[in-house]
Amino acid sequence: MNVIEVTGFGDRDVLETADRDTPEPDPSEVRIAVEAVGVNFADIMQRRGHYPGGPQPPYVPGMEAAGTIDAVGEGVDREVGERVVAMTNEAYAEYTTANVDALFAIPEQMSSEEAAGFPVQFLTAHNTLFEWGGLTEGESVLIHAAAGGVGTAATQLASQAGAETFGTASTREKLDLAEELGLDHGIQYTETDFADAVNDATDDEGVDLVLDGVGGDTTQRSLSCLTDFGRMTVYGAASGEPGHPDTSTLLFNNHTVIGYHLGQAIERVPQRVLGAVPDLTEALVSGDLDVVVGETFPLADAAEAHAYIENRESSGKVVLVP
Ligand SMILES: NC(=O)c1ccc[n+]([C@@H]2O[C@H](COP(=O)([O-])OP(=O)(O)OC[C@H]3O[C@@H](n4cnc5c(N)ncnc54)[C@H](OP(=O)(O)O)[C@@H]3O)[C@@H](O)[C@H]2O)c1
Repeated sequence: MNVIEVTGFGDRDVLETADRDTPEPDPSEVRIAVEAVGVNFADIMQRRGHYPGGPQPPYVPGMEAAGTIDAVGEGVDREVGERVVAMTNEAYAEYTTANVDALFAIPEQMSSEEAAGFPVQFLTAHNTLFEWGGLTEGESVLIHAAAGGVGTAATQLASQAGAETFGTASTREKLDLAEELGLDHGIQYTETDFADAVNDATDDEGVDLVLDGVGGDTTQRSLSCLTDFGRMTVYGAASGEPGHPDTSTLLFNNHTVIGYHLGQAIERVPQRVLGAVPDLTEALVSGDLDVVVGETFPLADAAEAHAYIENRESSGKVVLVP
């Protein structure tokens, strides 16, 4: 079968097409004939060698795939032919295997491309807003990269939960998309200081919660528009640099900074992570929520897909199609 391999840590030229044996499912696994692969920013960080505990080259990247079950491991109670999306490893491939614990049925109405955009970004958005971030109706939230994969999910979820939503993006076009999804206050951070904009709009009160997947200077700057006793969920470093929240800012303002990692949390507290899946699925089926698929690329063009995200051209989810 055709796969994409990361042949060494580095720039996008380390992504190469390769031929590997089609994998056999272990007991507790299924094999999926892959129709769509979700590309995540973490794939890029792993490729660069900047992801703690990430795989060592040569490896097949990718952590979520949608398709059809075409083989089941011994004792596995799933049907060949079932459409599923899985959180897994080695997803940039024509076939992948996945544990049944991290498998979700794809509703009939949903395309494989949309399904591939569901698990990582919607669970991360839901968990960082509510389970970890404690967001409640009537509170306010600042979502960085509001037009991104996690951002488009978080914008919809926070807005529908009755929160006042602030969101940042690099371009007006990205903010237009986020505003279509329910964002109340779009801030083009390349033109305006985002913390000043939030403080101006809130009479210097700041927001109750910040979602920070960007890191770098954005993290500390976010604390200057966080209300006293406010919370910030940190879950990524798309800027390439981790954030460094100043502890004196935290203590003088009774701020709480909360870390979130989906992979670790799903192993340690699966019920906390996955509790929202039935409601999320229902909302996706009813059309209340949308997986925004921004762009699709052939699997062989994985390097172009990475470039598209790294160059900040992407909105919503980027998907590979084998
Ligand atoms: N902790 C977890 O379990 C978990 C799970 C999923 C995702 N994440 C993290 O969440 C973040 C978002 O992930 P995603 O897959 O949804 O990606 P994404 O938001 O679709 O893409 C990243 C966005 O970050 C912004 N950005 C800011 N500085 C950037 C830079 N130097 N280079 C590239 N982009 C930059 C860009 O938006 P603008 O153009 O608007 O600035 C870009 O579109 C990533 O840091 C990712 O690692 C963490």
